[in-house]
Amino acid sequence: MAERAALITGGSGGIGLAIARRLGERGYALTISGRQEEKLLSTAEGLANEDLKVEAVVADVTSEEAVVDLVAEHKRQWGRLDCLVNNAGIGIGQAIDGVQSKHFDRQVAINLRALVIATRESVPMLKEAGAEHGKGLIVNLASIAGIQSPAWLSVYAATKAAVLSYSRSSQKELAGSGVCCTAIAPGFVATEMTEFVQGEVPPEKMIQPEDIAETVSFLLNLTPACAIPEIVVSRSAAGPDSEGL
Ligand SMILES: NC(=O)c1ccc[n+]([C@@H]2O[C@H](COP(=O)([O-])OP(=O)(O)OC[C@H]3O[C@@H](n4cnc5c(N)ncnc54)[C@H](OP(=O)(O)O)[C@@H]3O)[C@@H](O)[C@H]2O)c1
Repeated sequence: MAERAALITGGSGGIGLAIARRLGERGYALTISGRQEEKLLSTAEGLANEDLKVEAVVADVTSEEAVVDLVAEHKRQWGRLDCLVNNAGIGIGQAIDGVQSKHFDRQVAINLRALVIATRESVPMLKEAGAEHGKGLIVNLASIAGIQSPAWLSVYAATKAAVLSYSRSSQKELAGSGVCCTAIAPGFVATEMTEFVQGEVPPEKMIQPEDIAETVSFLLNLTPACAIPEIVVSRSAAGPDSEGL
């Protein structure tokens, strides 16, 4: 059994990869998941070449069975779970009079439903870790969009508002178990997801994936007496009308 282990959904790129690398450097055995096999395996190979302990599991989180199997596979491989990072997410921009049901369903399935299922499946292992050392942790990737409700991203923002609410409920329910839940709500982070806006906002003016990884690391440095339900990460270069995005 590993001494500490973390499961990061959507760990094959962007924010998830940066968090995986940081946790790996802290000695966590890692399970990373993603939908695209080739991309996932090459990411895992890169992390393994950095001497990190990593297992890659292909899982499309729109499938409940795939999420259940993902958590079970993590348990089989590492025997414990100290940190769950619900990171997989997508954003589809659309006007409110043009929202397609299939895009609505996909964003809800990936951004919210999968996170709820992964949490449900992971809580028993996290509570065991919490009873052992008081520092079981769930990190949910929300977004500043869930607070600022920007135009053209209504459904995405609504899923992230739901993630913030679900995270607060989780934190309350888990209080006293040695497991904390924190939602992280960033503005634009320089990843594939924000390529659509990189003409207007250059990547170097965006939050870096490593900033979010450092935020997770900070949470792990806190004593078990301290819980942080929510962290908003704004862009320091954002103008007065950008609402931190
Ligand atoms: N970038 C930002 O500005 C920003 C800001 C606030 C919040 N966030 C949130 O942070 C999280 C990570 O975003 P990111 O910018 O790192 O995105 P990204 O670079 O596009 O990476 C998304 C990750 O999620 C995985 N994923 C997507 N759909 C999936 C599915 N159906 N099943 C399994 N895995 C799936 C991707 O794997 P595949 O490529 O294999 O599908 C990839 O590993 C998301 O929840 C996002 O909403 C991002």
